[in-house]
Amino acid sequence: MQTDYMERELPQIVTLMLKACVLLALVPFICNSQANSEQLDKPVSREIANKENPGFISIDCGSIIDYLQEDTGIWYKTDKGFVETGENHVTSSIINLNYLYFGKQLTTLRCFPEGDRNCYTLKPKEGKNKKYMIRAFFSYGNYDGKNQTQSFELYLGVNLWKKINFTNTDHYTFTEIIHTPSTDTINVCLVKTGPIIPCISSLELRLLNNSIYQNHQMISTNDPEPLLESQARIDVGPSPCLANATSDSDAPPILNAFEIYKLMTQLDSPTSPQDVGAIMDIKSSYQVYKLNWQGDPCLPTQYRWEGLVCKGDTIPRITSLNLSSSKLTGKINISFSYLTELEFLDLSYNELEGPLPEFLAHLPNLKVLNLTGNKLSSPIPKDLKQKADNKTLELSVAGNPDLCMTGSCKKKNIVVPLVASFSALFLIILIISLGFRIFKRQKALYIHVVPPARFNSKKRGSLKSKHHAFSYNEILNITDNFKTIIGEGGFGKVYIGILQDHTQVAVKMLSTSSKQGYKEFQSEVQLLMIVHHRNLVSLIGYCDEGEIKALIYEYMTNGNLQQYLLVENSNIINWTKRLKIAVDAAHGLDYLHNGCKPPIIHRDLKSSNILLDENLHAKIADFGLSRAFGNDNDSHISTRPAGTFGYVDPQFQRTGNTNKKNDIYSFGIILFELITGKKALIKAPDETIHILQWVIPLIKGGDIQNIIDARLQGEFNINSAWKVVEVAMSCISQIAAERPDINQILVELKECLSLEIVQRNSGSARDIIELTTLSTGPEITPSAR
Ligand SMILES: *[C@@H]1O[C@H](CO)[C@@H](O)[C@H](O)[C@H]1NC(C)=O
Ligand SMILES: *[C@@H]1O[C@H](CO)[C@@H](O)[C@H](O)[C@H]1NC(C)=O
Repeated sequence: MQTDYMERELPQIVTLMLKACVLLALVPFICNSQANSEQLDKPVSREIANKENPGFISIDCGSIIDYLQEDTGIWYKTDKGFVETGENHVTSSIINLNYLYFGKQLTTLRCFPEGDRNCYTLKPKEGKNKKYMIRAFFSYGNYDGKNQTQSFELYLGVNLWKKINFTNTDHYTFTEIIHTPSTDTINVCLVKTGPIIPCISSLELRLLNNSIYQNHQMISTNDPEPLLESQARIDVGPSPCLANATSDSDAPPILNAFEIYKLMTQLDSPTSPQDVGAIMDIKSSYQVYKLNWQGDPCLPTQYRWEGLVCKGDTIPRITSLNLSSSKLTGKINISFSYLTELEFLDLSYNELEGPLPEFLAHLPNLKVLNLTGNKLSSPIPKDLKQKADNKTLELSVAGNPDLCMTGSCKKKNIVVPLVASFSALFLIILIISLGFRIFKRQKALYIHVVPPARFNSKKRGSLKSKHHAFSYNEILNITDNFKTIIGEGGFGKVYIGILQDHTQVAVKMLSTSSKQGYKEFQSEVQLLMIVHHRNLVSLIGYCDEGEIKALIYEYMTNGNLQQYLLVENSNIINWTKRLKIAVDAAHGLDYLHNGCKPPIIHRDLKSSNILLDENLHAKIADFGLSRAFGNDNDSHISTRPAGTFGYVDPQFQRTGNTNKKNDIYSFGIILFELITGKKALIKAPDETIHILQWVIPLIKGGDIQNIIDARLQGEFNINSAWKVVEVAMSCISQIAAERPDINQILVELKECLSLEIVQRNSGSARDIIELTTLSTGPEITPSAR
C-alpha cells in the first residue's frame, strides 16, 4: 500500500522539491553520510588526511589522477583497479558543471563503447553483510558534441537498479541505494540498451552503521536484504525555499529533514560465491581477456560470461566451462577443483604444461574433459585414467607430445641419451653420497632435539611418516568442508578437523593475501615439524597445493590464554595455575631460544598465542611463522607486521632488529596479563591505555593488592606475587641488554611457584609432584645447542 503510494505519487513531488533544493539537499548528505564524521570537524590538510577515508570508496570516473577534495576531505581515486574496460572523456567546456562539492567529479567521465555490460567491482574492506550506501553520478556534458538524450541501465549485481534517462540540458543525474551485500565484492554494471554509449561520472560507497535504515519487514532471515533506493532527501530546516511553519504559528517548524526510500526486493541471487571465487581466480591467474567476463558470471542470463553454462533455480552454479583457444599458459590451476558442479570442461588448444593434476579426477560431476592440443606431460593420474577407462569420463588428451595415454606411445630414441646418462650417473652417485653425509649430519642434530617420548608414541609416529603432506581433498575431508571456525589469526582462519584415527586437529588455512611470503613454504614447514617440545603446539602436517596452503596443528581444548583470562570467563585461573602457565610458556620459549640452532625467534609472542590443553598446560603456538612468512628479505612489502600492537618491543619499533630480547619484552607483557588479569591494551571508557601505563604507577606505589587480579580475592602469596612482578619488570626493561635470558627467567618463575606451593599449607602432594617434574625440564638437551 505504502510503496504503491510512493511509486505513483512521489516522482512529481520529488522532482519539484529536488529542482528547488537540490544543492541544499545534497550538502547535508555529503556531510552526514560520513561514517567517520570527525574527519570533517577538523581542518583537513594534505598531510594529515587519511588517503583511504575508512569505510569509503570514492571513484572519480574518467579522472587521470587521485586527488583530495579539500572542502570535503574525501580522497577520490581513478578507475584503475575498479574496472577493466572503457575510455576516459571530459565534458564540454561550455557546460558549467561547477557545482559545490561534487562539480569536480562531474567534469570527467568514463564511457563504455564496447560490450553490452561493463562493471565496476567494489571490494569494501569491511566485507559482506555490512550496510553500504552506494551512489552513482552521471553527467553527459555533451562530451561527444552530439547533444543526445542519455539512456541506459544501471545494475547492482544481478538486479536492475535504475533506468538512467536524462538530457544534455539536465546536466547531470544521480542515484543512491542502500545495500547489504552477501558477498565481499559488489558489482555495479552499466548496461547498453540502445545506441547510446553508457557513461558514468563518479561512483561512491559509504559504510553505514546499523543505527538507521533498519528493515523490519524481513520475512525470513534467508532472504537477501531488500535494497532501499533513495527517492528524496529533503532538508527542511533553515531552508529559504521551504519554510514547512504557518503564518499563525509562533514556533519554528519542528521537522528538520526527511528522506524517502523505495523498497526493492532482490529478485535474483548471485552465482554461488564458491564458483565466483574460483572463476575469478581462474580469470586473474591466467589473465583471461574476454570482453564480457565482468560482473556476475551467470546472471542476468543475457549477459552470462562467454564460454559458461550455468544451472540452478535459486543459486546459479557453473556447469560448463569452455576455455578452448584462450591463450592459457602454465599449470592447470587448483581453482578448477572448486567448480564442483562442473560437468563439461574444455581447455583444448592452449599452452598448458606440467603433469595432469589429480584433482581433475575428483570433480564429482565432470563428464567431459578436453585437454587436446596443450603441452601437458605424463603421467596421467591413476584415478583419472580409471574414470576414462570405465567411460564415466570422456577424456581427450591428443596433441600433447609429452603425454602418454597408453603404453604404446612412441619410444624416444634412447641411444644418445644412454651415453649421456652414464656420465650423469657418476654425477648422481656423487650427489647422493654427498647428500647422504649431509643428511646424516642433520639427522644427528635433530635427534637431540626430538624428545624420546615422541619417538615412542605410535600415534604420532604414524602421523609423521604418513601425513606430513595433505592434499586439498584430505583437508576438505578433515574439516568437513570447513564446517567450524575456531579462530582467526594474522595468517588466516583456523578450522577444527578430525583425522582418520579420530585425533582432533586445528587446521589453519593461510590466507592467499600474504602469498609473497610463501616462497619457502615446504622447507620451512618441514623444519618446524621437527621442532617438538611439550610446551610447543605440534605441527602435524601441511597442505601445499597451488594457492592452497594450510598448516595442521594438534588441537588445544581450552583455547588461548587471552580468551581464558577474559573477565567474562567464569573459570578464574588461580594464582598457582597462573604461575604454572608462566613456567610452561617459559619452558617453550627457552626451547626455541636455547634448544634450537639457529635459535627460533618467535616475534609474535602474545597471550593469544599461548594455548591451553584440557589440563591447562600451556603451549606456545605460531612459532617460526614470522620467519617463514614474514618476508625477512623484502620487508618493505611485508604483509604482516612483526608482532602485535601492545606486545611489540619499543626497541624493535625503533631499530627494526630482531633478537631474543624482543621476545623477552613480549613475554614480560604476558606475565603482566597473568598477574593483573587485564589485556595488553586496556579499554577505558574514552581511551585505550597500555597495560604498562596502568601497572607501573601501582608498582611504584607498592600497591600489590591492587595490581594482582581482583578476581583472585587475595588468594596468593605476597612474596611470590612480588617476585613475579619483579621478573616481569626486568623483561620490559627499556635497555634490551638488561633484560634477562629466558633460562634465567625460567629459574626465577620456578622459584615463585615453589614459594607459592611450599609456603601455602594447602599445597597438595600432587602440586609438589608436578613441580618436581617441571623443575627437571627433561626435554632440553644441552647438546642441541
Ligand atoms: C540540445 O538539444 C536540445 C533539445 O533536446 C536543444 O534545446 C538545445 O538547444 C541543444 N543544444 C545545443 C548546444 O545544440
Ligand atoms: C568452445 O569454444 C571454442 C572456441 O571458442 C569453440 O570453437 C567450440 O565450439 C566451443 N565448444 C563448445 C562445445 O561450445
